[in-house]
Amino acid sequence: MFKGIRPIRYAGREVLPLIEGGKGVSATNHASSGAWAAAGGIGTVSAVNADSYDPEGKIIPQIYHALTRRDRHEELINYAIEGASEQVRRAFEMTGGKGAININVLWEMGGAQRILHGVLERTRGMVAGVTCGAGMPYKLSEITASYGVNYLPIISSARAFSALWKRAYSKFADFLAAVVYEDPWLAGGHNGLSNAEDPLQPQDPYPRVKALRETMRQGGISDDVPIVMAGGVWNLKEWEDWIDNPELGQIAFQFGTRPLLTKESPIPEEWKQRLMTLEEGDVLLHRFSPTGFYSSAVRTPFLRNLEARSHRQIAFTKEPIGDHSFELDVGIGNKKNHWVTRGDLLHAREWFAQGFTEALKTPDETLVFVTPDEKKIIRKDQADCMGCLSQCAFSSWADNEKNTTGRLADPRSFCIQRRCRTSPTAARSTRI
Ligand SMILES: Cc1cc2nc3c(=O)[nH]c(=O)nc-3n(C[C@H](O)[C@H](O)[C@H](O)COP(=O)(O)O)c2cc1C
Ligand code: SF4
Repeated sequence: MFKGIRPIRYAGREVLPLIEGGKGVSATNHASSGAWAAAGGIGTVSAVNADSYDPEGKIIPQIYHALTRRDRHEELINYAIEGASEQVRRAFEMTGGKGAININVLWEMGGAQRILHGVLERTRGMVAGVTCGAGMPYKLSEITASYGVNYLPIISSARAFSALWKRAYSKFADFLAAVVYEDPWLAGGHNGLSNAEDPLQPQDPYPRVKALRETMRQGGISDDVPIVMAGGVWNLKEWEDWIDNPELGQIAFQFGTRPLLTKESPIPEEWKQRLMTLEEGDVLLHRFSPTGFYSSAVRTPFLRNLEARSHRQIAFTKEPIGDHSFELDVGIGNKKNHWVTRGDLLHAREWFAQGFTEALKTPDETLVFVTPDEKKIIRKDQADCMGCLSQCAFSSWADNEKNTTGRLADPRSFCIQRRCRTSPTAARSTRI
């Protein structure tokens, strides 16, 4: 017989240990998280560039007026604080002021700390906890504790948690509400694969979560503090061994992809339909994200285009070295001194003949071949950047003094903001 789950105490209330994971951009909002929390679980509003509304209830388009990236970044922070606060208010209201509403921030998003302060300031008494991953959010505990709010770090290994705990979180132990183990092979969205882990060699989550519990115990954390299993959770029957298992302590489950199919889910209807028709091989763990993290996504035409772009790639040297003894004569205008192998010269001429007439430099001493139209879009997206990430591979924006990563902008990647907000078939969907 199926064991089933029992309610737990969370942020002063009784809830089912079932969480709807936060999903940016606007793939979880008040409608989905409010409904989830109203049904007794923990809902998560994504605070990554959430939508706000005009007095008639229409979504306010996030248009950027400033001329510089730095100033547009300020506009973005204001939109983000306003949007997330409004989503929290609406979600909280949907639960009659009783439900458990978390917010989710990405530590690597531009202005993460300011946005977190801004939202927590405006939503006092409404947010039960803050889930946060993507990077090493050492400051997370200090910030949320200063508002009396719980924090739930998202990690992909016991090692990452140990570093966070020792350096920062142990000082705010009372506010640690749970630790989210997001499996780097199974979870939708961005994935925290380390350099030592092979994207093509998935590991069993059980020993990894067991190791996490052992690390938590070593840090003096009670077994009542849940570990939230996130990634590949579809039917709880498949996780029966995990429930009431003394080796693992209290377990909760986070669902990301599955709730995309609910009627409350704010993603476009066509995408819900598409998700129902996926077949083996339709989901790709890729590296095109400008964040630099792996990302798990449906192979949309947009993603296939990025794959094809990366295939139309050749290495070059600035002088003839070894078999790089053929000078490139297509895609680079009048520029000289791009030395390639004979095979790559022939490839480049072939792509050129097919209409991929523009060669763009990457930060890795390679060239990718694109059409003139693609080049225009890439350059425009890079020029229009509003600094939504702390480090962006695509535009080389960085949230630092000089506002640059110091690396060449990478045309193999894409702008999450532009490609997310302008078309449902673009990046918003590439993360599904
Ligand atoms: C479309 C999509 C967007 C996501 N965006 C975020 C995000 O912005 N921040 C985050 O911490 N997790 C994000 N996630 C991860 C989910 O919160 C959740 O942990 C994960 O999807 C669980 O794995 P599952 O998809 O196999 O259920 C996203 C997942 C999906 C599918
Ligand atoms: S170019 Fe990069 S940092 Fe700039 S808005 Fe797009 S994804 Fe964000």
